[in-house]
Amino acid sequence: MKPILIRNGRVITASEDYVADILCEGDTIRSIGRDLSAGPDVEVHDASGLLVFPGGVDAHTHLDWEFGTARTVDTFASGTRAAAFGGTTTIVDFCNQGSATPLAALEEWRGRAETASVDVGAHLILNRVSDEALRDVRTLIEREGVTSFKLFMAYPNGLMLDDGEIFRVMRVTAEHGGIVCLHAENGPVIQVLVDDAVAAGNRSPNFHEITRPSQLEAEATQRAITLAGLVGAVTYFVHVSASASVQAVAHARQLGQPVHAETCPHYLFLTREEYDRPGFEAARFVMTPPLRTRDDQDALWTGLRTGALSVVSTDHCPFCMSEQPYGMLFSKQQGRDDFSKIPNGAPGIETRLSLVFDGGVRSGRISLNRFVELVSTAPAKLFGLYPQKGTIAPGSDADLVLFDPDETWTIRAAEHHSRVDYSLFEERSLSGRVKKVFLRGQLIVEDASWRGRDGMGRFLRRAPVPSSVSR
Ligand code: URP
Ligand code: ZN
Ligand code: ZN
Repeated sequence: MKPILIRNGRVITASEDYVADILCEGDTIRSIGRDLSAGPDVEVHDASGLLVFPGGVDAHTHLDWEFGTARTVDTFASGTRAAAFGGTTTIVDFCNQGSATPLAALEEWRGRAETASVDVGAHLILNRVSDEALRDVRTLIEREGVTSFKLFMAYPNGLMLDDGEIFRVMRVTAEHGGIVCLHAENGPVIQVLVDDAVAAGNRSPNFHEITRPSQLEAEATQRAITLAGLVGAVTYFVHVSASASVQAVAHARQLGQPVHAETCPHYLFLTREEYDRPGFEAARFVMTPPLRTRDDQDALWTGLRTGALSVVSTDHCPFCMSEQPYGMLFSKQQGRDDFSKIPNGAPGIETRLSLVFDGGVRSGRISLNRFVELVSTAPAKLFGLYPQKGTIAPGSDADLVLFDPDETWTIRAAEHHSRVDYSLFEERSLSGRVKKVFLRGQLIVEDASWRGRDGMGRFLRRAPVPSSVSR
């Protein structure tokens, strides 16, 4: 593999902004400076006029993921290629415990993840808690590099854990350096609302939003914060959508509790009005939690600015609108006649960086440094990958994105690399586009051309939660 010299780019990290050359050798960055000399064998890439970011870290994806009666339509091959085109070189994906032991589930997930073309880590979703499962949690943290565990407070009859079970997991993660990722919604109460709506004949997609009020997200968020506080567990709230949840997180952080949270581009750029679309069109936006109000959206932006929210992830969980060509298993058409049967989830893995750059940096809501922190550095730190990932520094992996801040383009699902057949942001125009992407010193994306290969991604063994995160 030839060394790579990236010349004259504007290097942006979470804390710095300067023009320099970057020399990469093997997997890592060798040196950074002005006028670095290129030997005869060096492959030179001119980055004049471009921004250079550390590769994006998407801490929330569901590739080839079984969800009740459905399965997400992106394989590890298609989903990670889509991620790469969007400037993401690391994902942390969700592995279901399902009916297996957590350790067996990880092994099976790793087999499927072998076709990934960016680097991958795993979060383990625990849906049954027993003494054996808790022993596996400890082994996963200490031996397997899987340090984060998603617990569902929603979806009774499948994924949901009760408060006692959640508390038992928190005790183990607190003791062994793990982090609990919470899907905070009050599942039993939502189920009553859903059952009532269906029984009353209210089955159109807009009832997804009506039956999942934001108060039930905030209530669950506060409940989990309280439980975690009893044992000093580090928590990470996934897909935060509601203003009241941001307030709960902010309050806990002010009190010094190790509470962290992410939001997602769809909550930052879309609102509940999308559910007014006619017919089945609103099903595109059936993800959980649902889209909220403009006030909630404003609170999320404030949370990103003030530090209540630490990360923007995608929650890429793609199901096709059409039944063709992949079949009903992968399609929202399962809920054609009943919103409660629409597979919950939406795509987004390919558009995160450009959306947040355009709607965050260009619109003046966040700084360039904060942008890099939100999409790369903070998730790398929280999930035990920093400084291998999440920054541009000698010794770090040479995961780099060359980004043109001025190129305008339009989001179209037909031009995506994901297998999903729609975008939440169809026909949205953006300024700022990924031009080249390097994974561990290898060019994998060059404009619209794919230069990587399936299977070149590596499994990432992640470190236990660092003290900077657990305080
Ligand atoms: O609707 C969503 N978010 N589906 C994915 C599963 C989850 O809760 O993250
Ligand atoms: Zn969730
Ligand atoms: Zn998710």
